Amino acid sequence: MKKIIAAASFTAILLVSCTPKASTSAATAGTSTSTVEQIAQGKTIFESSCGRCHKLPDPASHNPVQWVGIMNAMAPKAKLNDDQHKWVYDYIISVQK
Ligand code: HEC
Repeated sequence: MKKIIAAASFTAILLVSCTPKASTSAATAGTSTSTVEQIAQGKTIFESSCGRCHKLPDPASHNPVQWVGIMNAMAPKAKLNDDQHKWVYDYIISVQK
């Protein structure tokens, strides 16, 4: 339940923050939950992209709301597209306690 709320709020914030691609984001928002395959891809992207500039972060080190802000800052650094951004976020949230 907590996960669903976090994913929904992330989608809302992503929508607001990505004005230039509003139509693309709206389509993404329609499919609000990532599949198992997408979360697995998020894990792969996380492990290969997020440890390049610093130690691979611990998903448990921040709460889902903090991760929204961190991902908004880090996704461009890691050159993730909107889908990859969402999958990595959903992976991080999926492994949180
Ligand atoms: C191009 C280099 C680069 C890449 C790639 C990158 N980061 Fe970062 N990251 C930084 C820098 C620089 C900082 C510290 C300065 C800052 O906060 O902007 C940082 C800080 C962080 C922090 C600490 C933020 C805080 O408030 O404590 C987290 C967590 C983080 N990154 C996660 C990620 C994740 C997740 C990814 C993959 C999507 C990622 N980073 C990819 C450069 C990068």
